[in-house]
Amino acid sequence: MRIVVTGGLGYVGSHLIHALLAAGHQVATVDISTPGVRRDLYRGEEFLQSDLVRIGDLSAEAGFLRRADVVIHLAALIEAAQSVRQPALYYEVNGVATLTALELARRLGAWGFLFASSAAVYGPDAQLPIREEGRPTPNNPYGWSKLMGERVVADVCAANGLESLSLRMFNLIGGDPAVGVVPRGGGLFAAVTEAMAGRRDKVVIYGQAHATRDGTAGRDYLDVRDAARAFLLAIERRGWGHASVNIGSGVETTVREVIEAARAAGGHALASEVAPARPGELAQSLACVDKAAEVLGWRPGRADIPAALAYEHQARQRL
Ligand SMILES: NC(=O)c1ccc[n+]([C@@H]2O[C@H](COP(=O)([O-])OP(=O)(O)OC[C@H]3O[C@@H](n4cnc5c(N)ncnc54)[C@H](O)[C@@H]3O)[C@@H](O)[C@H]2O)c1
Repeated sequence: MRIVVTGGLGYVGSHLIHALLAAGHQVATVDISTPGVRRDLYRGEEFLQSDLVRIGDLSAEAGFLRRADVVIHLAALIEAAQSVRQPALYYEVNGVATLTALELARRLGAWGFLFASSAAVYGPDAQLPIREEGRPTPNNPYGWSKLMGERVVADVCAANGLESLSLRMFNLIGGDPAVGVVPRGGGLFAAVTEAMAGRRDKVVIYGQAHATRDGTAGRDYLDVRDAARAFLLAIERRGWGHASVNIGSGVETTVREVIEAARAAGGHALASEVAPARPGELAQSLACVDKAAEVLGWRPGRADIPAALAYEHQARQRL
């Protein structure tokens, strides 16, 4: 199939394009960044450098991209904490870029639209493990921009005769050394791998009185290649209607367990320090992944925390 990926130069996009090309699909990418070195990684891929927020009337772009069977919309601003400080920016970029990607899909004659949504649509009132039903109440503007994006995608696709699917991805980690792209922003894995590299002297643990095994916050970590596989299965299976589906591992790992994994992997005397829990940060997040099995025939692998730390550690050395 011919697939147009927005935000294809990012962490998820690079791994997804790698998987799409390996499966024999044709890929065209739109991204605001420049491919730089990455260009030679994916020969045969068409690339359009463009800001989806300020793209204009799209005639030139649609002409360049010609046609698509599916548009996969990944391009977004992705940092929850930044979205609290700059909500207007998040609503503008994530909102307008999604409308632009939908218009591209229509002009390119696509039958399907896949939207990269996030576990950030779920707030602190979600029951664990979190199911897709009900009305999620996000905890920050980033999460709201994703929830609103899902609605916009479903409505516009329904009106234009396209199928649509929103994949609510949980915390993606690890990757393929042949791709070598790491997540942007400063999450726990960034902090731990920076400490492993001696670029920070300690890792701060925010809160140790949560209702998890060891009291530190818990997250659902999934290998980015598993998430890429979910997109591939979705394209091959079709028949989604207009659904939203969790893409997580269904396993909770705590902050302390990640730090212990780094220590066990030879992260020297990796120092940590406990600080009060940060307001607005969720204590726990864990996906129920039954719907993904039903709709896509997708089942997660178990995220390999030590391997993901080793991957990020090595990839960050090259940054
Ligand atoms: N990484 C995760 O753990 C995770 C989890 C859940 C959801 N997601 C979603 O997956 C998608 C990809 O995330 P990622 O981790 O690869 O992020 P990333 O920042 O690595 O990639 C995003 C890409 O979008 C591009 N982009 C941003 N604004 C643009 C614009 N205006 N026009 C064109 N391109 C633009 C960036 O240049 C970048 O290459 C996002 O929508 C994110 O919300 C990611």
